[in-house]
Formats: sequence, structure tokens, C-alpha cells
Amino acid sequence: MLSDEDKQRLVDAAVTARETAYAAYSNYRVGAALMCEDGAIYPGCNVENAAYPQGTCAEAGAIAAMALAGGRTIKAIAVAGGRPDLQPETDPWDLCSPCGGCRQRIAEFAQGTGTPVIIASPEGVMLETTIGALLPHAFNLEEG
Ligand code: THU
Repeated sequence: MLSDEDKQRLVDAAVTARETAYAAYSNYRVGAALMCEDGAIYPGCNVENAAYPQGTCAEAGAIAAMALAGGRTIKAIAVAGGRPDLQPETDPWDLCSPCGGCRQRIAEFAQGTGTPVIIASPEGVMLETTIGALLPHAFNLEEG
């Protein structure tokens, strides 16, 4: 279970990570923060590149930081992103929801299908869902 306090810590870490995003081409800044089973929090931000496909997502950065530190299990993850011209309050398409590739990245390390994914704007929590809801029937090499 993720306590309200831990949820807030994750959202705060994602919002802070967003401030260091390098989004020189899209101007769409994203921060992510994941919590490992041991309670450690790893943040990441998107880092774009003039050769566009070389840019990396915030979630990928957070997962790389976790792996480097030896972490292997995501207990929960928060993603905070957006641009001032978007309106996630009225248009669900404006939510900064993890992209398809990042859903698979999160699934690789998630504790289970019920692992919380918290989608936030810089103003606060917009949607609380799970990796299983975002990526049903995920590809998995293991049987059963
Ligand atoms: N982006 C992320 O960082 N995470 C996602 O899950 C979706 C998209 C970034 C990539 C790019 O730098 C910018 O948002 C606009 O697509």
C-alpha cells in the first residue's frame, strides 16, 4: 500500500524533476519519480535531442537511475508534465500519461499489475491508475 504521505513525496519529486527537463524542441517538460520497494525515490526528466528520436522520456531516466543504484522493483511511480497551453482538467488527452513505450518499461519492473501510476500536473494529482489498467495483457517472457 502506498501511504498518502508517500504519494505526496512522489508527486513532489516528479514536479521537481520536471523543472530540470531539457525539452528544447517540444517545450513539453516531463518529470517522473518512482519509489522502490525499500522506499528509495528515483527521479528522472525528459532529455530531448536535435536528432529527435534520440530524446529520452522522464520515466526512462528514473528507471535508469533506479537500476544503477541496484533497485529492481517499482512500488509506485508519479509522472508530472504538461505545457501551459494544455487543459488536462477538461481534456483527458491533455493528461501527461506515460507513452506506450514507457508503459512497457514500467511493467518490466512493477511489483504487480496493481502498481500505482499517479499522473500529475504541476498543480497536483490529475489521475491515479495502475500499470495493469494502462497496459493490459502486457508482454511478458515468463510463463503463467
Ligand atoms: N515524454 C516523456 O518524458 N514521457 C512520456 O511518457 C511521454 C512523453 C516526453 C518526450 C518528449 O521529450 C516530450 O515528452 C514530448 O513528447
